[in-house]
Amino acid sequence: MDAFELIRTRRSTRKFKPDAPDAALISKAVEAGRYAPSGSNSQSAHFIVIKNKEVLTRLAELVKDEFAKMETTPGMYPAMARAITSSKNGSYVFHYNAPVLVAIANKKDYTNNLADCVLAAQNIMLMANALDLGSCYINQLKWLNENDAVNEYLSGLGMAPDERVYVAVALGYADTPDGLPVREPLPRKGNPVTEI
Ligand SMILES: Cc1cc2nc3c(=O)[nH]c(=O)nc-3n(C[C@H](O)[C@H](O)[C@H](O)COP(=O)(O)O)c2cc1C
Repeated sequence: MDAFELIRTRRSTRKFKPDAPDAALISKAVEAGRYAPSGSNSQSAHFIVIKNKEVLTRLAELVKDEFAKMETTPGMYPAMARAITSSKNGSYVFHYNAPVLVAIANKKDYTNNLADCVLAAQNIMLMANALDLGSCYINQLKWLNENDAVNEYLSGLGMAPDERVYVAVALGYADTPDGLPVREPLPRKGNPVTEI
C-alpha cells in the first residue's frame, strides 16, 4: 500500500479476536509511535504496552467501576454519557476486549502532552493497518486521568507520578472472517478545505 492508501484505509476496529498478535508486530507498531514528532523534540511520551490479559481485565473493571460512580449531565459528550450509563448497568468494556492496549502517557505539566501522545497514537494506528492489525483510538483513560484509583493502578504498571495518560490504542486482529480490518473508508462529508 502506498502512503495515501494506508492512511485512507485505516478504520477503527471494535471487535477483536482474542489471541494476541506476535510480539514483534506489536513492538513494530509501538516503535512507529516512538517515531512521531514531539514538541521541541521532547520525546517524553511513555508507551505502556499492556498485553497481560488479567491486567487488561482488571483495568477494564476499574474503568467500569469508576464510570459507574459518575452521573450523566445534560449536554454531556455522548460517548462519555454512554460510558457512564453502560458502566452503571455493568456491561461496559472500554477497550473492546482487545488483546493489547497501548496507553500513552506524558508529563502532566508539559504543554504539548496531548498533541505528542495523539501523534504517536496515529502512527501506531497507521502502522497497525500496514501490519494487517485492527486498531482503535481509546479515550477513556484520558477522561479518567485525574481519577485516583485509575492512576494508582497505572502507577503499578509503571506510570510515573508526574505522568498522565492522554490516549490509548487498542490493537489486535479484527474479528472478521479473514482477520483483516475493515478498510472501506467512511465517506468524507465534513473536513472542508479552503484553498487561497
Ligand atoms: C479524539 C478521538 C477520540 C476517540 N475516542 C474513541 C473512543 O474512546 N472509543 C472508540 O471506539 N473510538 C474512538 N475514536 C474513534 C472515532 O470514533 C473514529 O475514528 C470515527 O468514528 C471515524 O471512524 P474510522 O476511525 O473508522 O474512520 C476516537 C477518535 C478520536 C479522533
